[in-house]
Formats: sequence, structure tokens, C-alpha cells
Amino acid sequence: MAAIDVTLPRRLAAAAPGWTAEADVVVVGSGIAGLTCALRLRRRVDRVLLVTKTVLSAGSTGWAQGGIAAALDPDDTAQEHLEDTLVAGVGLCDVEAVRTLVTEGPDRVRELVALGAQFDLDAGGEIKLTREGGHHRDRIAHAGGDATGAEISRALITALQRVLDDPGIEVIEHALVVDLLTDDERAVCGVTLHVIGEGQIDGIGAAHARAVVLATGGFGQIYTSTTNPHVATGDGIAAALRAGARVADLEFVQFHPTVLFLGEGSTGQQPLISEAVRGEGAVLVDDTGRRFMQGRHELADLAPRDIVARGILDVMAERGLDHVWLDARHLGRDFLEQRFPSIVARCRELGFDPATEPLPVAPAQHYASGGVETDLRGRTSLDGLYACGEVSCTGVHGANRLASNSLLEGLVFAHRIADDVAARLDDGELALRTPAAADAPADLLDASHRIEVQRAMTRGCGPLRSATSTAAAAAALEALAALPPSAAEPGPFTWETTNLLHLGQALALLAHRREETRGGHIRTDAPERDDERWLVHQELARGADGRLVLGERPVSRPMGVRS
Ligand code: SIN
Repeated sequence: MAAIDVTLPRRLAAAAPGWTAEADVVVVGSGIAGLTCALRLRRRVDRVLLVTKTVLSAGSTGWAQGGIAAALDPDDTAQEHLEDTLVAGVGLCDVEAVRTLVTEGPDRVRELVALGAQFDLDAGGEIKLTREGGHHRDRIAHAGGDATGAEISRALITALQRVLDDPGIEVIEHALVVDLLTDDERAVCGVTLHVIGEGQIDGIGAAHARAVVLATGGFGQIYTSTTNPHVATGDGIAAALRAGARVADLEFVQFHPTVLFLGEGSTGQQPLISEAVRGEGAVLVDDTGRRFMQGRHELADLAPRDIVARGILDVMAERGLDHVWLDARHLGRDFLEQRFPSIVARCRELGFDPATEPLPVAPAQHYASGGVETDLRGRTSLDGLYACGEVSCTGVHGANRLASNSLLEGLVFAHRIADDVAARLDDGELALRTPAAADAPADLLDASHRIEVQRAMTRGCGPLRSATSTAAAAAALEALAALPPSAAEPGPFTWETTNLLHLGQALALLAHRREETRGGHIRTDAPERDDERWLVHQELARGADGRLVLGERPVSRPMGVRS
């Protein structure tokens, strides 16, 4: 591992905690990963504390349209799901992590059904399955047509509400985690958090625990436009990075090919047009009506996401366009309204009708394939810290996540984490530790600079990158990092903005170093995949002096094993 010249503070500047809470385990986040983990833990652990940044339903899970992938069809196999996942991941998937995902996935989905999630059914009462990019079979279960995440979120929150009177589980909403608490040996022993509440639990507090599970989702808000909700500011990854946890594969950001194009100036969360629309037969066309994905890949419009996004970007560049079109008219009004009710309604609200006109679409940020590195039990490099879902890097996604594998990953690994934490607590392995004094340097970037972070990242580390663009992004972020922290007022928007800055610095560095094109990382100055040099994961961790330390782990070497 080599030290490099990006320095991160140990923590964000915030007031000293005015209250404390105690739990065996703190779960941070209430998407599929956090809710599944908390529900399973509460059956085996005395005190579970679930904290979430706004309200339980606000995270990315509720926005997931397409569905959840699992080999549920009797003709399908886990092996085929594994093969499709490995192809999409372009050589960087951890095969054992993928095997875990695809073999345990079908049972986890059936348990979700038993819990109350209502997936769309076929005439025979079986879960109806559709196809999305990169899958060679119909294996995507969906709900409410295109409202799969909302239904899963509803089912999990309902299950949680049924047990909320139980003293073994407590939920705190409007609770932004600011930093991780660590002891003198860098073991994680809780979180500091800011709660907008009433009475005793209000303002900055500390939740002490024997284990912390980060399930905080992604960081789409680091770009000017994204499909992610406004809460996706990478708080969990940034806090883990500051505490010294190893992160990996941050350069692999997935840009969804078909996001409704509302004009260059449209920023923030943009409307997703699910890949399932192409799964049902919609096609991409250019300004002459030509189906440009044909001939680019054997699966044409249903090629893996990075290939479709790249096809669109090439056509946009060749023809001087700022978007292309998705033509679904031939699917018919009735079918579209019944199969994709939310998408059709949203398009119509915005003045577009997929039944009568091709929709303008362009790639926008959608998913972070990398994150806090974990092993197959969800353990990170810091004792007591677990990560699950989009915040994590389990090795399942490699350089590009296969469509609809993300909900499944949250489900499968949340289950594993709950089992591992419970077993370690039973064995007395997770000690109650005392947080070290919070005397390390703190930092803040004022919220007014958020747009500068987003612009630097969009221009420099967007869907197309180069050595020049990534260096420019890194320089712009370094200049922001050098601003005096005294100019910033501590508060939620400022903490989020500083998290975006810290993550951007790490991401720009890795995107600059990786001189090849692979999956979601498209380098215009290095357009080929280079297996000889780059069949490695890039890892970063903050060293004791604050400098980021960089390492490379060959794909063949499992996580947690160092040479
Ligand atoms: C989509 O519906 O296209 C998104 C599903 C996913 O991100 O896997």
C-alpha cells in the first residue's frame, strides 16, 4: 500500500454529543438492506437501534422500478444467473460473492413473499418474471408493474411496525449519522448522529454499540443529475473512509442508459425509465429512427448497462445530440399503462406520452458499484463495522452491476450480517468498547459549495473520463478542501456536502489512476480493457496521519487477505 497526497480529516466538525443511546447493534439506513438486517437481528439480539436519515421509506429502495433478480423459474439456474453477473462485471466480480448471491437469492425472495411482499403473478399464480439488460433469461420479479422497490419497502416497514412495541428494537427517524465512533484500536463502537427530534433525543448525540451496520445507500448526489433521491449523499461511505475502513472499486459508477432527458439544466433526481421497458420490447433510436444498438452487441438494446450507455454516448457524440430516444409505441397504450403505471404517469405529468411518442433519454448516474469493502459475512476491515447494500463493496458487481441485482444483494447480505453479528454476540466476541477522545482534526465544507463539487465530478468523472478530466476534478476538489472550515456552519446540508467532497476526492483519484476502460469506467484516452495491468481492485484507506493509502488487490485474491 502506498500513501498518496489526499488527506482526509478523522471527523466532521460538529458539537459534542448532548445525549447518548445504548444498543447491541446500530443499523444505519432503512432500505431493503437496513430493514432486513434489523428485522432479522431483533429475533436474536436484545437491543437493536435502527436510525434513518429522514423517514423509513425515503431511501433508494422505494425508487427501484425494474425489480429483483433471482433464478426462480424452474428452467433457470443459479449457475446461469452467476454467469450473466460475471459477464456484466467485466472480470472484476468476486466469484464466491456472486455464487453466494445467486444461490441464496431465491430463498430470500420467497421469504420476502412470506413476509408480505406482493409480487406480480402470472395466470397460474406464480411470480411473473421479466427480462432486463445482460440477463439471458426472464428472472426479474416485479411488483405493481414498475413499483417493485416501493412494494418491498412497504412490506418491510409494515413488518417493522408490527414489532415496534417490542422493547428490543428502537427506531429513530430524521437521524443523520455524522461519524463513526472508534476506540483506540480503531474498532467501531457506535456513531455520532444528528437528530431532528423532540425532548431528550434532539441535536447531536452518540449511540454506543458493539456493532454498527452501515446500510446508507449510494452517493448519486455527487453528480448534477442522478436517478437517486436527495438523501443519497454517500454519508456512510464517507464516514467509514474517515474512520479508516477500506473502500474499493469507487471508480465504477453506473450510469443508467435510459433516464428521461429534461434538458441540460435539469439537476438533482431525474425520472428513470426502467430497463424493463426495453425488456418488454422498447428500442433505442437516433434522430433518424435508426436502431443503433443492433450490431453493437448480441443482446442489442438489452446488452449490459455499460454497453448500452456507451452506445448512446457514442451516438450522441457522432450526431451532435444531447439525448437519444426510447421508442415504446408499438407496445400499445393499454399494455404500457398496465405494465408501467408509475412510469407512464410520471412521463405524462412531465408532458411526454410513451404511447404516442418516443421518449428523449440520456444516461445519468444510477448506482455505485464500489463502496466499503466487505467479506462474505459483511464484515469490513474495521472490527465491529459491517456494510450492506449499495454502501458496500461485496465483490458482487465488479466493474458494472447486472440489472436488478442490487435489491437482491441487500437482501442476501443483510441476512448474512444479522447471522454473523448474532453469533459473535452469543460468543462474546464483540466487546463493549470505549470511544477514543474526539480530539482529531475535524473539517467542513459549507453547503453553498455543493454545486461546485457536483459540477467538478460531472465534468471530470462522469460517464466519459480521461486523465485530463479526472485530474481537473481532483484539482477542483482539492481547492475546495483547502477552504477554511471556519467559513462553514455545522448542519445537515454542510455535513452532506463535506461527505460528497471526501468521496469525490477518493473517487477522482481512483478514476485517474485506472488507465483503461472497463464496465462503468469509460476512459476516452484509454478506450481498451487492459487485463494484463488492471485485473485488480483499487482500495483506499485513511492512514493514521490522515493521508489516503492506496492498494491494489488482484481479483483472484479474496478480500481481507493481504500479501
Ligand atoms: C431499472 O429498472 O432499470 C433499474 C433496475 C436496477 O437498477 O437494477
